[in-house]
Amino acid sequence: MQGDAVNTNQQQDQIKHWFNKTYERRAFQYLRPVEAYEIYLKLLQVQKEHHILDIACGPGQLLKAAQKEGLTLSGIDIAEVAVNYAKEVLPEADLKVANAEQLPFENNQFDYLTCLGSLERFIHLKVALKEMLRVAKPHAHFCFLVRNSERASWKIVKEKLGFINKAGHQGAKSLNEWSEVFTETGFKINRIHHDQWPKTRWLRWLSLNSTLWQVDYQKIQKRQTALEHAYEFIFILSKA
Ligand SMILES: C[S@@+](CC[C@H](N)C(=O)[O-])C[C@H]1O[C@@H](n2cnc3c(N)ncnc32)[C@H](O)[C@@H]1O
Repeated sequence: MQGDAVNTNQQQDQIKHWFNKTYERRAFQYLRPVEAYEIYLKLLQVQKEHHILDIACGPGQLLKAAQKEGLTLSGIDIAEVAVNYAKEVLPEADLKVANAEQLPFENNQFDYLTCLGSLERFIHLKVALKEMLRVAKPHAHFCFLVRNSERASWKIVKEKLGFINKAGHQGAKSLNEWSEVFTETGFKINRIHHDQWPKTRWLRWLSLNSTLWQVDYQKIQKRQTALEHAYEFIFILSKA
């Protein structure tokens, strides 16, 4: 039992170390530009002055977008290098270095909770999800961006060719597996969307005109093609 705890601590230190090094080397370039985060706030239909907690906030890209919407900002991340960057760009935000599995907040605090591209990095996913439910207000809404394990690029490049980044605890699950984890932990799934970023990233790269690569909110809502083929899923949830 003690051995398991030591192994878990070592693994957690390794993940933290990998992210600290990545942020030291690549800083904001490691992530999407701030504009790409607006979609998550739109999908949550955020209202001014409500309180958002971004879990695994990195250097604060989502919170920067949330600042424009007039929200009260809180964020945590395990990597202190990321949190220090976030503190520089968002001096008014409440930002802490913390593990998502043990959130440093009282019960029933937040109106919105976001966790983007990070749930698959957590060692004890369900513990972290229960923590999110604990600190969320009864009518809170959640937005999670998670990777699809059924996508060909994941299956071939990552699983078959072995390019999974183990030090950063990279992972993925199928649509059904993610849905099960969320419902078993106490969430109600309200909507699931495709993430549009892979497509819009190319449009942005090909275009000098930034208006062409804006994430199309209408399209994301109407999209009819099978969700199973999404690169990542956006789950919008509430407490069950
Ligand atoms: C791919 S980055 C995404 C960052 C940010 N959510 C975004 O989309 O811009 C994953 C983040 O998860 C953080 N992370 C990994 N494990 C964590 C944990 N147990 N608790 C809190 N943060 C964690 C990393 O430090 C990193 O900043």
